[in-house]
Amino acid sequence: MSSRLEGKKALVTGAAQGLGSAIATELAAEGARVLLTDLNEAGATAVANQINREFGASRAFAIRHDVTNQADWRRAIEAARSELGGLSVLVNNAGIVITGSVEDLDMDEWRRGMSVNVDSVYLGCKAALPLMRENQPASIVNLSSIAGLVASHNFANYNASKAAVWLLTKSIALHCARNGWDIRCNSIHPAFIRTPILNDLAKSGEDVVELHAKLARQVPLGRLGEPSDVAHAVTYLASDESRFMTAAELKLDGGISGM
Ligand SMILES: NC(=O)c1ccc[n+]([C@@H]2O[C@H](COP(=O)([O-])OP(=O)(O)OC[C@H]3O[C@@H](n4cnc5c(N)ncnc54)[C@H](O)[C@@H]3O)[C@@H](O)[C@H]2O)c1
Repeated sequence: MSSRLEGKKALVTGAAQGLGSAIATELAAEGARVLLTDLNEAGATAVANQINREFGASRAFAIRHDVTNQADWRRAIEAARSELGGLSVLVNNAGIVITGSVEDLDMDEWRRGMSVNVDSVYLGCKAALPLMRENQPASIVNLSSIAGLVASHNFANYNASKAAVWLLTKSIALHCARNGWDIRCNSIHPAFIRTPILNDLAKSGEDVVELHAKLARQVPLGRLGEPSDVAHAVTYLASDESRFMTAAELKLDGGISGM
């Protein structure tokens, strides 16, 4: 265990599995105290318990939290204040993939994707900034995607929602800088990281091993990313090592966007 995040107080959304779980665990390993939130409360609690077993009691806490709900955000920020003693790192990680072309998607699907992927970042930053101002230097990390920078015919909603996260991140960063607050805000843009979300890309009946191999063939490095690849990047952005980095996008795509 090292201490690049000693004294940091972090909230990670969507932390019951996948990237959120890996991110929360690495932030704790680097010395942060962490509040894990998810719709799946049992899953988030299991990850928090594992962190506490590994890194010491009261290192991690978990609550149920729907990131599309403003009242839930108020409760989550209050939990950060009471359980962590403040908030200096916010990781807006929760997100969903809805596949389909512009003609495939109905209005409910469109709204659901925009709500989980974009409203969540707006609501989260709006709710968190007052407490983060009391805990400077602070850092917000938003999970966009390589799909927020490069489009596909059947990703209309995912492309639009993750592109919105990309520029919303910059607007938040400039708002903080203009006000003289040491609160940075950056986005991360992964491609094909080995988590359950990839299963949403499988055609019906397609085997997961086959799907992973097919996706890996699209990556110049020839392999999928691992959750730890993203967690390392979040640790850097959460830490004061990245103190001159704000309004930036960090691509973790094995070279896809370089083609
Ligand atoms: N895995 C990848 O290849 C990849 C690539 C690019 C971007 N991303 C982004 O990274 C983030 C995490 O993805 P992942 O791969 O870990 O996905 P995942 O499906 O494994 O995990 C997502 C988590 O978010 C939670 N969640 C969903 N809706 C929620 C809501 N309304 N409120 C609270 N929690 C909610 C789920 O319960 C789940 O625990 C997402 O924003 C995703 O778009 C992932």
